[in-house]
Amino acid sequence: MALRPYIVGNWKMNGTRSMLSEARAIDRSSQRLMKVEVAIAPPYTLIHPVHREAEQIGVGAQDCHAEPDGAHTGDISATMVADAGAKFVILGHSERRQEHGEGDDLIRAKCAAALDAGLKLIVCCGESEKLRDAGKAEKFVTGQLKATLPEALDETSERLSVAYEPIWAIGTGRAATVEDIAAMHAAIRKLLVDRYGEEEGGAVRILYGGSVKAENAREILETENVGGALVGGASLTAEGFLGIVAAAAELQDT
Ligand code: PGA
Repeated sequence: MALRPYIVGNWKMNGTRSMLSEARAIDRSSQRLMKVEVAIAPPYTLIHPVHREAEQIGVGAQDCHAEPDGAHTGDISATMVADAGAKFVILGHSERRQEHGEGDDLIRAKCAAALDAGLKLIVCCGESEKLRDAGKAEKFVTGQLKATLPEALDETSERLSVAYEPIWAIGTGRAATVEDIAAMHAAIRKLLVDRYGEEEGGAVRILYGGSVKAENAREILETENVGGALVGGASLTAEGFLGIVAAAAELQDT
């Protein structure tokens, strides 16, 4: 059976305690939209406060270290975010790759650490505009996933989601076209089925991210092989984010 659509807000480096009211509003409204799985990844400092507020939505982290503990000043481990109430972690986001020099090997190690800590994974991939213009997007994205995804899924496909986020679409207001999303998600699906088998690989949710908002959510979410959305800017207010959740719920009704 197909998993529920998964709508995840990535707050990035935004949010102080004053934003807990937005999280609360998202949580309360999501209780009426049970056909959609809703989650927020706030900054580390808000994981525990959001976890305490949340009755319905999932709470996650935007990154974690590859080691469980040790002398790594300023870093946070998967065990720690799980202890704070996180149920999942976003790994391999292009902003981590660009701003912190994260490569595929490190991201694969972080995936293993997160699974060990009992967390679910959202593994990100996505090409630059230059690679897309050169016709190399699919090869690049599937290469990233081959190098970062766990070899096997010990438990169910529910533990893993992939987020396809073309770099040129993030925060630009210029989402990918549904044709490009469909083509890339089909290539990712093939890779998942090759790696995990028809049943497990066929059930992993592939999220799209990059300028998703209430206005374009429906057409993106109804595209084949799109199992949800990873939302940055539009997740920072309950109003904007709930518009996307509502679009996902409406599609479940049709
Ligand atoms: P955006 O960000 O929705 O602001 O484009 C998406 C992301 O980076 O996860």
